[in-house]
Amino acid sequence: MTGFDIHIGYAQIRNPIALAAMAGIADLDFVRKVAMSAGLAVLGGYNLDDATNDAAMRIMERGRAEFVTPEPIEYLRSELERLNEMEDPPAIALNVRSTEMKPLLSAALLAKEYGAILEIDAHCRQPEMTSIGVGEPLLRDPDRLASMISRVKKTGVALCVKTRSGVVDDERLAIAIEQAGADAIHIDAMKPGAGTDHRAIKVTRNATDLFIIGNNSVVDFGSAKAMFGHGADMVSLARATLANSDVIDTLVQHITVFQEQTGWYNAPKHICSGGDDRALAFCCLPVKPCAIHGVLNRYGITPQEFADLKVELSRGTPLELGDNTCFGTLIWCCKLTKPCFLRNAVLEQIGLSGVEYMKLKKRLSEAILERLRGH
Ligand SMILES: Cc1cc2nc3c(=O)[nH]c(=O)nc-3n(C[C@H](O)[C@H](O)[C@H](O)COP(=O)(O)O)c2cc1C
Ligand code: SF4
Ligand code: SF4
Repeated sequence: MTGFDIHIGYAQIRNPIALAAMAGIADLDFVRKVAMSAGLAVLGGYNLDDATNDAAMRIMERGRAEFVTPEPIEYLRSELERLNEMEDPPAIALNVRSTEMKPLLSAALLAKEYGAILEIDAHCRQPEMTSIGVGEPLLRDPDRLASMISRVKKTGVALCVKTRSGVVDDERLAIAIEQAGADAIHIDAMKPGAGTDHRAIKVTRNATDLFIIGNNSVVDFGSAKAMFGHGADMVSLARATLANSDVIDTLVQHITVFQEQTGWYNAPKHICSGGDDRALAFCCLPVKPCAIHGVLNRYGITPQEFADLKVELSRGTPLELGDNTCFGTLIWCCKLTKPCFLRNAVLEQIGLSGVEYMKLKKRLSEAILERLRGH
């Protein structure tokens, strides 16, 4: 029993750390080596038809690893069967590429049969794949991607789409993926040059209710926390697992302790520190010029209306207490990881644990966004 409540469609996930797909590398043997403690392991990418298998062979000829499987569906079934031999494996996703619909639908039905997630690869940049319209070209063809998602989703599979940020408008892409019916988006939030594009995670969080897997350059607890603080529900790692086979185990331990200590493992950063709109729950009474006003303008709400809303939604909860805090109640107080002896003294005085405080803030955040989105 973990302190997390995470699922993608029917797939229950025990913690928010995932192994990301690596063609020719990420199979169940690799999971045994690096990802047995993960919440999710994305296997693949697997090539489902002749065109993608031929492209994969050409990629292999220039020295890059790929999975080439003449009978892809039978092969995937045998991989999924092997799960039965493993003790306590992570949830599984299959990252797949195909030029044809039929093999995608077969893979979706197979994934569903084994309680696995199907992940459509709209990410691959290898020229042999992009030249046959597979991978990243899907991002530039929203109608084809949406049609693929809605047809695959009709099988009832739990469906994720792997994307790369900065290729097209990230917000519009995420909305299109959600409207087509996908359950989750797995964003390689790469920044051209170097680093991680947390903005892509944040705009997706603010615009959709998709389950978000944040990916790119997660190597330790700090980089994972930055992804969570911008709205990711889960983080995934690829290259870091090649460099350090214990990195997933270490991250799972850290995030589990963090969840036990704070009650909200992916609590947002404050809005003035670049956090997503969930952080309105931690905002002060909006009396000074600061970053909140841009957010309130976006929702078409005045500072007074926002203040009234927060008070209304906190009515009858312990957040109404706290005379000795900056603004007279915990409604306006910062998140637990921001050290504050005034707030902590109130929490101690009223007998509210830090975890309970954060759970109240999480509920407040959900209620605020529900009302603002309906505004
Ligand atoms: C060797 C290698 C193979 C990859 N193959 C795939 C793939 O088949 N499908 C896919 O969606 N992403 C693939 N990726 C991308 C990774 O899943 C991930 O998005 C990317 O490496 C950035 O994450 P990282 O910084 O944790 O490595 C591959 C990455 C590497 C390094
Ligand atoms: S209201 Fe407070 S917490 Fe929110 S953005 Fe402004 S200064 Fe930051
Ligand atoms: S009392 Fe502390 S936690 Fe509350 S608003 Fe002031 S600084 Fe933030």
